[in-house]
Amino acid sequence: MKATHAEMGAAPQYDETVVRYFTVATALWGVVAFLVGVVIALQLAFPVLNFDLPWLSFGRLRPLHTSAAIFAFGGCALFATSLHVVQRTCRVPLYGGREVAMFLFWGYQLFIVMAAVGYVTGVTQGKEYAEPEWYVDLWLTLVWVVYLIVFLGTIMRRQEPHIYVANWFYLAFIVTVALLHVVNNLSVPVSFFGAKSYSAFAGVQDALTQWWYGHNAVGFFLTAGFLGMMYYIIPKQANRPVYSYRLSIVHFWSLIFLYIWAGPHHLHYTALPEWAQTLGMVFSVMLWMPSWGGMINGIMTLSGAWEKLRTDPVLRFMVTAVAFYGMSTFEGPLMSVRAVNSLSHYTDWTIGHVHSGALGWVALISFGAVYYLVPVLWHRERLYSLRLVAWHYWIATIGIILYITSMWVSGILQGLMWRSYDELGFLQYSFVETVDAMHPFYVIRAIGGIFFLLGALIMLYNLCRTIRGDLRNETPVERLQPAPAAAE
Ligand code: HEM
Ligand code: HEM
Repeated sequence: MKATHAEMGAAPQYDETVVRYFTVATALWGVVAFLVGVVIALQLAFPVLNFDLPWLSFGRLRPLHTSAAIFAFGGCALFATSLHVVQRTCRVPLYGGREVAMFLFWGYQLFIVMAAVGYVTGVTQGKEYAEPEWYVDLWLTLVWVVYLIVFLGTIMRRQEPHIYVANWFYLAFIVTVALLHVVNNLSVPVSFFGAKSYSAFAGVQDALTQWWYGHNAVGFFLTAGFLGMMYYIIPKQANRPVYSYRLSIVHFWSLIFLYIWAGPHHLHYTALPEWAQTLGMVFSVMLWMPSWGGMINGIMTLSGAWEKLRTDPVLRFMVTAVAFYGMSTFEGPLMSVRAVNSLSHYTDWTIGHVHSGALGWVALISFGAVYYLVPVLWHRERLYSLRLVAWHYWIATIGIILYITSMWVSGILQGLMWRSYDELGFLQYSFVETVDAMHPFYVIRAIGGIFFLLGALIMLYNLCRTIRGDLRNETPVERLQPAPAAAE
């Protein structure tokens, strides 16, 4: 019988090349996504920046921004960390070998490029976060099935008796996204070269399917996979076991059970039957509990080692991300209450909520993950400069605060202006007046975005120097590595 690596006592040969590729892609796509975000933020403040060019118009750049941020930046971070974590926690290299892993990388990049070209040339099926047409959808389905096989195959060949909780979260993300993608994109192509299709659903069924997809894209793409990151990297970086392993299991099952029902909160006051809207609202309010359970578990992993937050800026990124996660998962259930939604829906409050989750949670935890991965993957003693990480941290945090506070104020102002009546029962403000009132807030948001982008450029520089093997002469800070037994 063939001896296993563990029996031979040798370290398994992990496949790190694909993880390196995805890590670099995360940083690069991040800069692209934030740059397009800044451009569309400026376009909202100064519409002249649309330049009357269709391919540069807000309508086409907006989906480019959302997809670049979610699928290119967030997606590559998820690929990089999941493929790293599954190997380390199962103590085996990736199932399928290097060629299959590289197919995943290039296949996913091709998906991103095909989707992006479609957006700027106006090819879209008009479903938010699922804009690409049928040919792009088919290609992504193939890549995703290969991803599932590689991930599951690695788990099935594991040399550890236990499946570490981070892998449960990653697996839920991969399986559910596959399901959501296939069902929501069911459509009938009407031309081969014209790249046009019609959805298999119509009317309110179409809306319900779309928001079942949309909300679970938040729950499983922007949340579950990133929780996998939290459960692996925070304990590793802090060199401590997870605060409560039992809580992490309760967190997992309750989160995935509740999320899947919450989609109708996007369709309050629509043709969707009222009982379905109420169902979505109730499940959203219940979601608060597992979300905060997870947040507490992540933050309390540092209990007894809080001083590390002073010395380790990478950990600071991760913990601040978890705090933002707590904040946006408090705000979300609140906004799902029908009475609150009647004020917040269609306003910038939603945009503020989105970005407290997207910038505060998704982006900050991804930065933490990339800072963690680069020295490990390139076998460097430490990052080129921890001081630059601290700079990035503060610039990004100020950027987020400018972004989300301006959107909260403008959103609530907008909602209140839309519903103000004069003594004769006429609307007090014309729509144009409400748009005009938003201008200062849009400028502040754009400044916040520029800060955030600057921070990401600093990160890119720091990572390049780290990969080159340079070390900036700085006062010694605590070493970032060795692995706690619980997370391995
Ligand atoms: C520099 C950073 C960023 C800036 C300046 C920015 C800016 C913007 C702007 C101006 C919009 C359009 C708002 C509107 O239509 O009224 C938007 C939408 C959106 N952005 Fe960002 N963004 C940034 C980063 C991100 C990141 C990192 C993510 C995700 C990980 C993200 C996800 C989204 C989503 C999902 C929407 C659509 C929201 C909705 O339809 O309700 N953004 N962003
Ligand atoms: C317990 C957790 C959460 C709940 C219950 C929740 C609930 C909501 C609600 C009620 C809306 C407004 C729907 C509308 O009026 O149209 C919304 C929008 C949104 N939320 Fe959350 N949210 C949660 C967490 C998050 C997190 C962590 C993120 C990001 C990482 C996020 C991203 C979004 C996005 C992208 C939208 C805009 C969708 C669109 O209209 O395009 N949410 N959420």
